[in-house]
Amino acid sequence: MLKLEGVTIQFGGLTALKDVSFSMGSDQLVGLVGPNGAGKTTLFNSISGLVRPTRGRVEFDGIELSREPLYRRARVGIGRTFQVPQPMHELTVRENLIVAQRFGNGKVDHGRIKEILEFMDLSAQAERDAATGLALQELKRLEVAKALATEPKLLLLDEVLAGLETNGKRYFTAKLEELHRQFKIGILIIEHDIETVSTLCDRVVVLNFGQLIADGTPDAVFRDPEVIKSYTGADHA
Ligand SMILES: Nc1ncnc2c1ncn2[C@@H]1O[C@H](COP(=O)(O)OP(=O)(O)OP(=O)(O)O)[C@@H](O)[C@H]1O
Ligand SMILES: [Mg+2]
Repeated sequence: MLKLEGVTIQFGGLTALKDVSFSMGSDQLVGLVGPNGAGKTTLFNSISGLVRPTRGRVEFDGIELSREPLYRRARVGIGRTFQVPQPMHELTVRENLIVAQRFGNGKVDHGRIKEILEFMDLSAQAERDAATGLALQELKRLEVAKALATEPKLLLLDEVLAGLETNGKRYFTAKLEELHRQFKIGILIIEHDIETVSTLCDRVVVLNFGQLIADGTPDAVFRDPEVIKSYTGADHA
């Protein structure tokens, strides 16, 4: 169970998150939406440990994380991907997973890496150079594979479907459903495409100007006048 209580994050004079309280179980698949600059990635960063809340708490499975370093958060079971894929340069796909595994639980398990490569359909690319040898969809699959190598209970996915064409989106949607249902991994996914979110998630939370403005089923949330206004409002240039 992930729990955020009154999380506020300020970057100098800019309030990127304002008093955000939110919780979800590892048995849920939740969409996180909101206009550009709303604070979605910052919310992920506060959970995975890249930024520290100015105020408020982040808890996972009852463990207070707000002041814990990144690797400790990976070890309690929080995995994430980045909006811009960040493979480790000069390493192969397989080596990237080895590094991710070390980061996650300190141990290398080659059998498990083989399974993850197979699951994400990356076996044929395993010995390729990750920085230069992969197409966009393969890079995104590697992002998810790296996060899986840390053995998460909860996966934070930052726009893994963005930029993919219809088939790529379908592939990822099916994989994520499988991850969630079969492997019982909780997923919090940032995704702009309303249709994808509605298909994939049974709960959606909406951020606007750093504040949580809606939380409910996709149907209810995407019909909420305040949510519609946040997307079409003249304030967002
Ligand atoms: N490290 C930082 N230093 C200063 N400002 C930051 C930093 N990170 C984010 N911001 C600002 O905080 C606000 C929220 O940014 P964030 O990246 O969380 O938005 P987002 O919802 O993920 O947007 P997008 O949909 O474009 O990815 C923006 O105004 C951004 O410029
Ligand atoms: Mg973002």
